[in-house]
Amino acid sequence: MIFDTHAHYDDEAFDKDREAVLNALQEAGIGAVVNVGASLESTGRTLKLTENYPFIYGAVGVHPSDSGDLTEEDIQWLEGLTNRDKVVAVGEIGLDYYWEDPDHEIQKKWFVRQLALARKVKLPVIIHSRDAAKDTLDIMKAEHSQEIGGVIHCFSYGKEMAREYLDMGFFLGIGGVVTFQNGKKLKEVVEYAPLEQLVLETDCPYLAPVPNRGKRNSSLNLPYVVEGIAALKGITPQQVMEVTWENAKRLYRL
Ligand code: NI
Repeated sequence: MIFDTHAHYDDEAFDKDREAVLNALQEAGIGAVVNVGASLESTGRTLKLTENYPFIYGAVGVHPSDSGDLTEEDIQWLEGLTNRDKVVAVGEIGLDYYWEDPDHEIQKKWFVRQLALARKVKLPVIIHSRDAAKDTLDIMKAEHSQEIGGVIHCFSYGKEMAREYLDMGFFLGIGGVVTFQNGKKLKEVVEYAPLEQLVLETDCPYLAPVPNRGKRNSSLNLPYVVEGIAALKGITPQQVMEVTWENAKRLYRL
């Protein structure tokens, strides 16, 4: 079975056929999905999905690009949600310097604050880091994130940076990019990293793997990612599915 450790099924891209897509997953071998909050609104929608579908778990948190208007009251609200039954992580949180907005200092402030929240409620974190390698690592080290644990979602840096996170005990989230012709850097990381620290993810509706690149993504595409990892590691797709399933359970402490 396949564990999709990072999906956004609350996204409007699924408004027309969400139920049909979700109902098709289990028969296709997708055994579990973590739907990830990216804003206060999507965190609320994530909780609804966890209530309606037994195989969907949830993460609560605010993405750096949505952190501009956050308040301490919002963090308290998130904290109140963390003891719900199927909430398994704080995320996605981090830094996104691809965009100038919100100001990088504001992004850092709420990243640090949400790391502290995860530490307090004893949940792993889902890290989003884009074009912000140094600041992300500096903050995570300063906050002793190896004691919090979690996953670097949609890992996009090179081997040296991978080594840092692997040494901190973090998992690396691997998705459609591993099948892209221009995904050489990620392919090197997948070859290099121990299989025991890789987890599968879609980040759907984004980042569909080849041969469906550019289309709306869903967990149904994960077999292509499994095949890509298996080829790089020289093992069978079955082995990739089994080991990453166990990894995801360790990551989310299920
Ligand atoms: Ni995401």
